Amino acid sequence: MYEASLPAWTYSDPRFFERERAAIFRLAWHIMGHASEVPHAGDYITLDILGERVVTVRDAQGTLRSFHNVCRHRAARLVSQARGHCGARLVCPYHAWTYGLDGRVAGVPSWQGFEDLDRSAYSLHPVEQEIFRGFIFVRFAPGLPSVAQMMAPYTHELEPYALEKLVPQGRVTLRPRPVNWKNVADNYADGLHIGVAHPGLTRLFGTSYRIEARDWVDKMSGDVQAVPSTNWSERAYQRLLPALTEVPADCRRRWAYYKLWPNVAFDVYPDQVDFMQFIPVSPTETLIREIAYVLPGANREMRAARYLNWRINRQVNVEDTVLIEGVQGGMASSCYTTGPLSPKEVCLRAFADRMRALIPEARHERPPSASSQSHDSPVSGGHSKMER
Ligand code: FES
Ligand SMILES: [Fe+2]
Repeated sequence: MYEASLPAWTYSDPRFFERERAAIFRLAWHIMGHASEVPHAGDYITLDILGERVVTVRDAQGTLRSFHNVCRHRAARLVSQARGHCGARLVCPYHAWTYGLDGRVAGVPSWQGFEDLDRSAYSLHPVEQEIFRGFIFVRFAPGLPSVAQMMAPYTHELEPYALEKLVPQGRVTLRPRPVNWKNVADNYADGLHIGVAHPGLTRLFGTSYRIEARDWVDKMSGDVQAVPSTNWSERAYQRLLPALTEVPADCRRRWAYYKLWPNVAFDVYPDQVDFMQFIPVSPTETLIREIAYVLPGANREMRAARYLNWRINRQVNVEDTVLIEGVQGGMASSCYTTGPLSPKEVCLRAFADRMRALIPEARHERPPSASSQSHDSPVSGGHSKMER
């Protein structure tokens, strides 16, 4: 008996989406960006996710702080850009209340009639923050281990990439996809499709692609083969790898992907590191928020490798986009409920197990309201590993 995938209805059902918001995303660590994106006092970055909005700002002492990007007066958005500089104060664009970079009210226009306001009661609401190897994470409620604890199985592997020293290459991009966030996450950790649907990766990796699932992190990786690819970009990239001396020799051929529960993925290449964040927008819409980082001071070979990497992965992206949109459509079909998961799909199985443990309705082939009418039974093989 094969373990069943998550049922199709969980990829479009509004009530299930609300359950995910409370059971998963309320508790999850959300990546804001990297400390190097806010190098000076007054620099800030923002994130909007599931009705919450956060601003991370650096103060004059160099400390990074994260706040709800919500004015304490009438809830206006304090800063609206993805990244910017606010000077010594955050000034609300609605009625010009100002806040220090520590979140305290610094000023309220005197003519507005708030002479007796207890300013100390109206500081910006802080958001819990963790810096992991230079990357800034926030969360809205406690419960999960720290990012450092979750990433612990791979900390030693990431060491050679000097993540703290990365600087942004370009800006954050937001790519909308008409699919449920789990569809993007599943595809990211799906091991069986690489050799079928990504000819470029297959030429690069040969048979070296492998996946593994730890408690909070899935890892996918492949070794770029020495045998020259028939594709020009891939062949040129392969030739450049020995010159990428920023990382130790044993990292120069490795492409590794780490997916942190539930929706943050790090792509770690010898020439750059990026993160992709799958931001749920609605049951059938996801924003892929992405930015690449590099070590400063690249030579010509490194710059060429980055360009070729971009070309190679642009094609992978096109292929995955077609696949996930096709799957989203198939899941809406009346013929499909669940499919079998191979024992080799350790990441998809672990993900489905965790989802069923957190949201028990995910064990039903049909939405619970529909199942009570059709005498539906829980999905066979769908009991959580964590409960056994
Ligand atoms: S809403 Fe910000 S000052 Fe009024
Ligand atoms: Fe893919």
